[in-house]
Amino acid sequence: MILVTGGAGYIGSHAVYELLQAGHQVLVLDNLCNSSRQSLARIEQLVGRRVEFVRADVRNRAMLSSLFASFPVTAVLHFAGLKAVGESVAEPLRYYETNVSGSIALCQAMAEAGIFRLVFSSSATVYGEASQMPISEDCPTGQPTNPYGQSKLMIENVLRGLAASDPRWSIGLLRYFNPIGAHESGLIGEDPTGVPNNLVPYMLQVAVGRRAALNIYGDDYPTPDGTGVRDYIHVVDLARGHLKALERLEQQRGVAVWNLGTGRGYSVLEMVRTFEAVIGRPLPHVICPRRPGDIAQCWSDPGKAWRELDWRAERDLTAMLADAWRWQSRNPHGYAQPAKTLAATG
Ligand code: NAD
Ligand code: WQD
Repeated sequence: MILVTGGAGYIGSHAVYELLQAGHQVLVLDNLCNSSRQSLARIEQLVGRRVEFVRADVRNRAMLSSLFASFPVTAVLHFAGLKAVGESVAEPLRYYETNVSGSIALCQAMAEAGIFRLVFSSSATVYGEASQMPISEDCPTGQPTNPYGQSKLMIENVLRGLAASDPRWSIGLLRYFNPIGAHESGLIGEDPTGVPNNLVPYMLQVAVGRRAALNIYGDDYPTPDGTGVRDYIHVVDLARGHLKALERLEQQRGVAVWNLGTGRGYSVLEMVRTFEAVIGRPLPHVICPRRPGDIAQCWSDPGKAWRELDWRAERDLTAMLADAWRWQSRNPHGYAQPAKTLAATG
């Protein structure tokens, strides 16, 4: 059985779906602070199987110990954490406590229970402002400018120290680039609370009429059209990377780092144009000043994951945005309302 912390969230829910489809038993632990139990209900509907769910906080070590005593967990995918960059600047202690202390509590309980296989959700943010593109895993990590990014780097270091201290550990650090899109059913997807921080959720809310126009943060970067360039990856491709990492970690000990990206960068204006083609109408947008803390460009060298995990991203940008749009247009208010297609598919 695989424990998925944060399994009700955006990326975790897609990983839960892929695990179930691959025949795994899955136990989800989530405190639902940034997600809905609905995501798991939708997965159960799609897959026709039950997902074990425990609503609890990953920082609760005693609870984790009793969980490991009750369920035959053999490996953990650890998604649970807080991820809003701006919020992390305003509430650093909450971010360090949830992300770093939560990861430590989890590892302590795992070791006590004799479970040593862990896949951790890291981020390309640990590279900071990289001097070379594409970014490969041997590029030095930078100095993330916010507590969120710092917490990811700290956890990576904690996990390295842990693996160095005990050879039984098999740990995968997956550095995600920019996850977007949704499962092709349109039943599960990203459901941010409040004003979205990220580009694609914001574009989607403009398209469904929840927001007036997209603010493009800067058109004076040293990039081909002046807007920021990122490596957007379909969340289903990303989720599948986790299954490949889990398999690989069965055969190797220590810590391994893998970038999960496509190896291609797109600018904000390219994103807008591709999205306009998907929805068949213009997307209102305005050029604004740069957003503090943003970097000009960031894209991956995903070659290591291809060589070692036999994994690569398969879905192109149009598929990512079409799937994102299917999710958003069928669920204009996310999980707060029943999906328009539920009756039809159920
Ligand atoms: P998300 O917020 O949708 O999912 C995180 C889940 O963790 C949520 O369901 C939330 O309720 C849960 N959670 C938070 N604190 C918890 C706690 N103390 N105890 C138990 N559950 C808790 O975010 P996501 O986009 O799915 O991200 C998943 C992971 O991937 C995070 O660790 C995030 O930092 C990392 N990541 C995300 C991105 C991205 O752009 N989405 C990029 C790189 C890395
Ligand atoms: C993408 C591009 C913006 C919103 C952040 C975190 C990172 C990671 C993913 C977890 C940039 C521009 C955005 C908008 C815009 N999370 N933009 N208008 O900044 O690459 O990464 O999320 O680890 O840590 O920093 O993603 O989607 O916010 O921005 O013009 O309303 O879109 O300036 O060029 P980012 P993003």
